[in-house]
Amino acid sequence: MGPRRNSLRYLNRFLSVREAASLLSSRLDPEETKEILLFLTDKKYHELFFSGAKIPFREITRFIRGRKKGIPLAYLTGEKVFMGFRFRVDPSVLIPRPETELLAEKALLLAREKNLTDLLDIGTGSGCIALSLAASFPQLRITATDISGKALRTAKKNLKAFPSLTGRVRFIRADLFPPKSYGSFDMIVSNPPYVPDKEWKDLDPEVRREPGIALLAGPRGMDSIERIARKAPSRLKKGAYFLLEIGYNQKNRAEAVLKKNGFKIEEILRDFKGISRIMVSRWPD
Ligand SMILES: C[S@@+](CC[C@H](N)C(=O)[O-])C[C@H]1O[C@@H](n2cnc3c(N)ncnc32)[C@H](O)[C@@H]1O
Repeated sequence: MGPRRNSLRYLNRFLSVREAASLLSSRLDPEETKEILLFLTDKKYHELFFSGAKIPFREITRFIRGRKKGIPLAYLTGEKVFMGFRFRVDPSVLIPRPETELLAEKALLLAREKNLTDLLDIGTGSGCIALSLAASFPQLRITATDISGKALRTAKKNLKAFPSLTGRVRFIRADLFPPKSYGSFDMIVSNPPYVPDKEWKDLDPEVRREPGIALLAGPRGMDSIERIARKAPSRLKKGAYFLLEIGYNQKNRAEAVLKKNGFKIEEILRDFKGISRIMVSRWPD
């Protein structure tokens, strides 16, 4: 048998979870090893090693090679958990971040407390904010926009995983705001692009595998924030809320922009690193 057939036979082998774990952990860190094993076996952690699951060797090499090339793990698995829900992700969308869960949690809290119904999610990407909110609070009707047709295709695939939300969440291709005919909103939420253009080259190479259009926003990273803050008042009902995620050093500028456009800042939430990250503001009654 020639060397090629030998290596094909090798690639087509199946490994036990222990063999796969030892191979993965010799190349990758333990957290990633665990995540990959859970993904490939579709098991819970407590049953992983005793399940008798078999893992294709080919898949293990795909993960090791992909990670060595710097492809984000979520793009290799094709999924990311956000607010307890599993979302499909691919290189057309930003990988949902834990700090954005803070924004979504706060939005959910306000929606429940104040009985809000009409919500706009600007720059929806994978649809993670819109879909997790709609799935968590049945009263919400959500319009979600993105300028990227590819991102919207991924968001629509994610919607299919929530059949009960069809009709309550609409994804629309638009430059920030949907047409006026979509009405006005009780709350606008947005995790817009906010990285200054010149910081692109300094970003982690893995982050640079995510779409530039999801991250970059002009010389100071404020272009989208300023445009949203300027137009939002004409699309909000009286007393409505505006929740905005911002960059690590944008608190003062974002505060000034919001105030200049007539918003009252209610709260600024810090992320796990203590960085001011979510601006919670309100349009006057
Ligand atoms: C930081 S990502 C956020 C994605 C998702 N909401 C999340 O939190 O994971 C910003 C999103 O805004 C979209 N975007 C950029 N410019 C836009 C514009 N002018 N109008 C609408 N969406 C825009 C990008 O395509 C991207 O999906």
